Amino acid sequence: MKKSFKLVFVLFIVSSMYVNAQNYEANWESLDSRPVPEWFADARFGIFIHWGVYSVPAWAPTNLESGQTIYQKYSEWYWKRLMDPKNEYFRPHHEAMYGSGFKYQDFATDFDATYFDADQWADLFKRSGAKYIVLTSKHHDGFTLWPSRESWNWNSVDIGPHRDICGELNSAIRAKGLHMGFYYSLYEWFNPLYKDNLEKYVDTHMIPQIKDLVTRYEPDLLWTDGEWDHNSDKWKSEEILAWLYNESPVKEKIAVNDRWGKETRSNHGGYYTTEYDLVHSGEGIDDAVSHPWEECRGIGGSFGWNRTESLEDYSTSEEIIHILIEKVSAGGNLLLNVGPTADGHIPVIMQQRLMDIGDWLKVNGEAIYETRVWDNNPSLKKVDKIFFTTKGSDLYVIVTKWHKQIVIPQLSKAKSVTLLGSDLKVNHKFSGSKLTIQAPDVNPGNIPCNHAWVYKIENAL
Ligand code: GLC
Repeated sequence: MKKSFKLVFVLFIVSSMYVNAQNYEANWESLDSRPVPEWFADARFGIFIHWGVYSVPAWAPTNLESGQTIYQKYSEWYWKRLMDPKNEYFRPHHEAMYGSGFKYQDFATDFDATYFDADQWADLFKRSGAKYIVLTSKHHDGFTLWPSRESWNWNSVDIGPHRDICGELNSAIRAKGLHMGFYYSLYEWFNPLYKDNLEKYVDTHMIPQIKDLVTRYEPDLLWTDGEWDHNSDKWKSEEILAWLYNESPVKEKIAVNDRWGKETRSNHGGYYTTEYDLVHSGEGIDDAVSHPWEECRGIGGSFGWNRTESLEDYSTSEEIIHILIEKVSAGGNLLLNVGPTADGHIPVIMQQRLMDIGDWLKVNGEAIYETRVWDNNPSLKKVDKIFFTTKGSDLYVIVTKWHKQIVIPQLSKAKSVTLLGSDLKVNHKFSGSKLTIQAPDVNPGNIPCNHAWVYKIENAL
């Protein structure tokens, strides 16, 4: 009698453990109820890395012909453009450069990563103020940057660098205390299995690869892409996510995006994504704001390294800092891309942009990291270039244009008003429910930073 009571008690404890453990079902309704992990929205600024065999030719047009979209500028699409019979300028260029018998696959040996130093990259990223990194573990060409069994002889250990790029970067990034993520393309342009037998491709190639990547490196983020050919049921995305959320070693911390099938962007999965502002606009207070989202873009017009770009094709540091401010004040993250060269070097112009962002964030980071949207957000941004973020009861007023005087409606109290990075007194007064701030007298010797400035209004909310 006593014994069976014990047994019932143990069974009760075990079953209640299971009920208490979050269990997601393999359907969107259940999966979408999982909140995007808080670390993601707190991080606000990340670095995307597009690196692979396409970094060898590193070539794409920089000017668009009428009717063309930004995608034409992506150098990582080299193989696809080369094989496109309608594309008139790609093949002649390729043949003139490399000869008519030269295949895309032949570039792999020149993807040598000679100067790739993961610690050096990690150091640069840390200094840029980014809090997370996303590396292309596999782009649409199917080449993996880790020793994937499913990608035999078409991965960075079997050919090219002969190194486990994902593994090396993963360790270096974590050592700096940053979050590590992997981009992974669901589809592969020219994989015969993908073309002939989708289900077999998904079961024997794609899912095993995702599980291998996740269990080997235990990333904080999985950034899927290349989903547009099929609906999510064909990709078995719900099953994959149920595994990620319930069973995988990263089930508590993993953040994912919304690219899981033709119908999923801005609809299902984790956070929403925009790309060069496409897909949905990150501007203003719309649906996107109540759900975590992320804008990704290159510093130039391409994600992969494009050696034909010149200075005019790159955003200035000021432009990028302004984009970061715009996105964060609208509730989004910025994932800024760098495209290393085939020998493992991050182009100096990109390094310089990252350092400038880092310098700005050193002074103003508290107005960016761990902040949230101000619900009363008055629409001052378009004309006056005034943006807001909040943290607890503090309000941050970020001006991307220096004003002598700023008037903020819907505010009636403050413990103090300061200019971040400066000791200069900031005169201010309340009248009605408006706050008027007088800019302090700054000069080149005492201005705390360039490009944008932040007033912190303590205890305003
Ligand atoms: C796209 C492109 C790709 C790029 C990516 C980044 O879907 O196909 O080249 O990697 O988006 O957002």
